[in-house]
Amino acid sequence: MISKSIVRNKTFDLSTILGEKKHIIRKSGILEYYEAEAGLEGIGGLEVLKAWLQKRRHAFTSQARDFGLPLPKGILLIGVPGCGKSLTAKAVGAAWQMPLLRLDVGKIFGGLVGASEENIRKAIKTAEATAPSILWLDEMEKGFSGTGSSNMSDGGTTSRVFGTFVTWLQEKTAPVFVIATANNVHQLPPELLRKGRFDEIFFVDLPTREERKQIFEIQLRKKDRDPGKVDLDKLVEATPEFSGSEVEQVVVSALYDAFDALPTERDLTTEQMLHSAKEIVPLAVTMQEGIAGMRDWARTRARLASLSQLSSKSPFAVEMRKLEV
Ligand SMILES: Nc1ncnc2c1ncn2[C@@H]1O[C@H](COP(=O)(O)OP(=O)(O)O)[C@@H](O)[C@H]1O
Ligand SMILES: [Mg+2]
Repeated sequence: MISKSIVRNKTFDLSTILGEKKHIIRKSGILEYYEAEAGLEGIGGLEVLKAWLQKRRHAFTSQARDFGLPLPKGILLIGVPGCGKSLTAKAVGAAWQMPLLRLDVGKIFGGLVGASEENIRKAIKTAEATAPSILWLDEMEKGFSGTGSSNMSDGGTTSRVFGTFVTWLQEKTAPVFVIATANNVHQLPPELLRKGRFDEIFFVDLPTREERKQIFEIQLRKKDRDPGKVDLDKLVEATPEFSGSEVEQVVVSALYDAFDALPTERDLTTEQMLHSAKEIVPLAVTMQEGIAGMRDWARTRARLASLSQLSSKSPFAVEMRKLEV
């Protein structure tokens, strides 16, 4: 692969290498190649998680090996829907300049007896053939729930596929970084959470006020609007318990209103956004118990993705300051 790049361009060219990798991925039919869009700067809040990722951006280089760094294995992002888990996975590809391969866990289970196990092995082989690469399993609990003994209906296929994957996670030596996300912690097989499978398990909670402000800024800039022209404090005040995706919804639906107005008055205003915020019932309101349960779960099992969610006296906050991330 590298030699082809040198022959074609007489230099080491990242885009040629990526092109080759894309070809291998498409041929596999199970993985999907994700083009890099925004990097970590497109994520509001989640400072701890972003710092962790930023610190490892050169961790797959030969210099890192020479220096004695171990290869990062992967992370598991768990949390409230719409708060930036999938967004983060996509951003890492751009931030690390590595190909991002999405594995659709649902697709693995093809239906034919034996095919599912073949599929997971093929996916792993493809990811390794394109290494260094990032393998992204989005909402993995949907595919791997029911791996316990209660699920006998598929003759244990789910368990075997899951077993193959977990064993690979534990033992892999190829530079493939795994990012798995999940919205429902209670559906995750507990084996996944054991030490040695992931480097870290991060809990992604609803954004705080400060984080919502950053998300408003990001979403407004994405629509080519100047965040300095609206009253961000008012917007933050009017959107308690909104997820990042609901903040995005506020901006987008206000844009529709603005476009619908007379051409002379066509501009996105704070009032329009306040109006659209009123029309949205955040998921957190209807999911209150579910979120409380998740937080409870995360308290002992996961690291918080956001620094601002911590009280400054918590042992974790003290530890974070020592680490200076
Ligand atoms: N922290 C965030 N910063 C900026 N945008 C966000 C954030 N969280 C969510 N969004 C917006 O909401 C959309 C959906 O978020 P996503 O990452 O898919 O949520 P999930 O945690 O369920 O995977 C994103 O594509 C982005 O536009
Ligand atoms: Mg998601």
